[in-house]
Amino acid sequence: MPPKQATSPKPVTVSTLTRMKQSGEKIACLTCYDASFAQLLEDAGVEVLLVGDSLGMVLQGHDTTLPVVVADMVYHAACVSRRAMRALRVVDLPFMSYSSQDQALGTSARLMREGGAQMVKPEGGAVIVDTVRYLTEHGVPVCGHLGLLPQSVHKLGGYRVQGRDKAAADAILQDAKALEQAGASMLVLECIPSELAQKITKTLAIPTIGIGAGPHCDGQVLVLYDMLGVTPGKRLKFSKNFLADTGSVADAVRAYVDAVKSGAFPSAEHEM
Ligand code: KIV
Repeated sequence: MPPKQATSPKPVTVSTLTRMKQSGEKIACLTCYDASFAQLLEDAGVEVLLVGDSLGMVLQGHDTTLPVVVADMVYHAACVSRRAMRALRVVDLPFMSYSSQDQALGTSARLMREGGAQMVKPEGGAVIVDTVRYLTEHGVPVCGHLGLLPQSVHKLGGYRVQGRDKAAADAILQDAKALEQAGASMLVLECIPSELAQKITKTLAIPTIGIGAGPHCDGQVLVLYDMLGVTPGKRLKFSKNFLADTGSVADAVRAYVDAVKSGAFPSAEHEM
């Protein structure tokens, strides 16, 4: 199939997402790992494609995201970038690929040059704030990631909701402010109480994208294979199988975009 031609509407940029936050239009984001889905997702109106290291679990069959290496991310980001003409492409910095500022810059350079990333996403708060500042000062747009950090699953003792007690919630709020101060352009909030996500979203000028963080974030993200019901096992409480009620993958993605935009998803049944 020939490469897709760039057509209007205009590409989604950081400014587009900031304007959407300001105007109250919800941002629809999904994970994406290949060219065909990149085209289908952006044709359905998804504004942000996240090449997530969740690919280690849903594509590669690992139990965690830890085995994913930079070459994996470069490969999948490049596949997505060949077809995505409009949606903003955010790519995860995989485990142990941003342990020092220079390593983070080197990894980001590869993801941007070879993978076509337009923004990179490391996980963590205070510990990585200086790295985030270093990246943004060098022209690398950064999306933060707070709450449940899958790369720290062994430290956290499992995939659990974070920020339930006041001290933990305050720490996440402080981390969010610090990441914004360091120059982050966007922030993913994973598996935290809805009220905490709401407070962070109101406090920050940058857009927040929630997953298992309630309805008040500026946008929502799900793992593509979860929202299509492809991931084996029990449905995660915060997720929804949009293919179950629709006739095709394209309709399922359009239903997701509509539900995010209208505020119908997530609803009370998806609260953690
Ligand atoms: O890797 C991923 O898919 C993610 C989302 C869960 C936010 O980081």
